[in-house]
Amino acid sequence: MQQRRIGDFPVSAIGLGGMPMSIEGRPDEERSIRTIHAALESGVTLIDTADAYHLYPDDVGHNETLIAQALASYPGDTSTVLVATKGGHKRPGNGSWTRDSRPEYLRAACEASLKRLGVEAIGLYQHHRPDPNVPYEDAIGAIRELLDAGKIRMAGVSNANPEQIRLANEILGGRLVSVQNQFSPAFRSSEPELRLCAELGIAFLPWSPLGGIGNADRLGGRAGAFARVAGAHGVSPQQVCLAWMLAKSPVVIPIPGSSRPETIRDSVRAVELALSPEELASLD
Ligand SMILES: NC(=O)c1ccc[n+]([C@@H]2O[C@H](COP(=O)([O-])OP(=O)(O)OC[C@H]3O[C@@H](n4cnc5c(N)ncnc54)[C@H](OP(=O)(O)O)[C@@H]3O)[C@@H](O)[C@H]2O)c1
Repeated sequence: MQQRRIGDFPVSAIGLGGMPMSIEGRPDEERSIRTIHAALESGVTLIDTADAYHLYPDDVGHNETLIAQALASYPGDTSTVLVATKGGHKRPGNGSWTRDSRPEYLRAACEASLKRLGVEAIGLYQHHRPDPNVPYEDAIGAIRELLDAGKIRMAGVSNANPEQIRLANEILGGRLVSVQNQFSPAFRSSEPELRLCAELGIAFLPWSPLGGIGNADRLGGRAGAFARVAGAHGVSPQQVCLAWMLAKSPVVIPIPGSSRPETIRDSVRAVELALSPEELASLD
């Protein structure tokens, strides 16, 4: 599979988003493991997760545990796989998402993720979302300490605006390697962040690249344009969407979520799909 880079680490140009396997509507464990194995068989070497990808208050880290199990039971080589997790969100129940970026909380969350993933250092640790109750400097300062202590190998941020991206990179001493923001045909407002990442050479990981769980068939109401190009190439509109994104910049690494082997197998084929400048313009 085509490779891109997060920091100095080569990863597949398409990653796997783990969220659909752990929140509302999640499949059983056996299907999730098959999905992760299908991703690995297809050459995926980036798996995105978070401690907050779980359903009940008592199954925090469900997705991290699943990924650790899938990697352990995979018969092939997993040494080139980068697991990217996050801290800073909580799911106390009733489907709600709350935030906690207190440095002591982030430190404890990282320790718990290390245990669940069964590693000495987390490949990529991302600050999940700015917390209005904690200065951003303090939250990213905690991430810097984890980096300096060797608890995490690389540091990223998520849901950050251009100012926060610059600030995070400064606090991390130029060691910010990735930004994960929402970006899809229906959600284009993070284009300034994408451009900044391209300028700084930082990986940009679009989250909900297909419009989010349950929306992939509609591609945010733009399915018509994507379906037309898909028809011309004999591929799925979702592949067209991911190929369109990949063409935006070499720093873009989409992480489509999957809960079925078929969907991730389909998504990875986007790397082989070359769209003409006219097609890209029509999709824009
Ligand atoms: N940083 C953040 O704040 C944040 C927020 C949200 C998500 N994320 C991350 O971003 C990842 C992706 O976002 P997402 O899962 O919310 O949404 P998404 O990737 O836009 O959509 C996921 C859904 O698309 C379907 N799908 C995937 N590939 C497909 C294909 N080739 N053809 C048809 N359908 C396809 C999947 O269906 P099946 O389930 O049937 O396979 C899945 O339910 C998440 O998994 C998570 O890792 C991060």
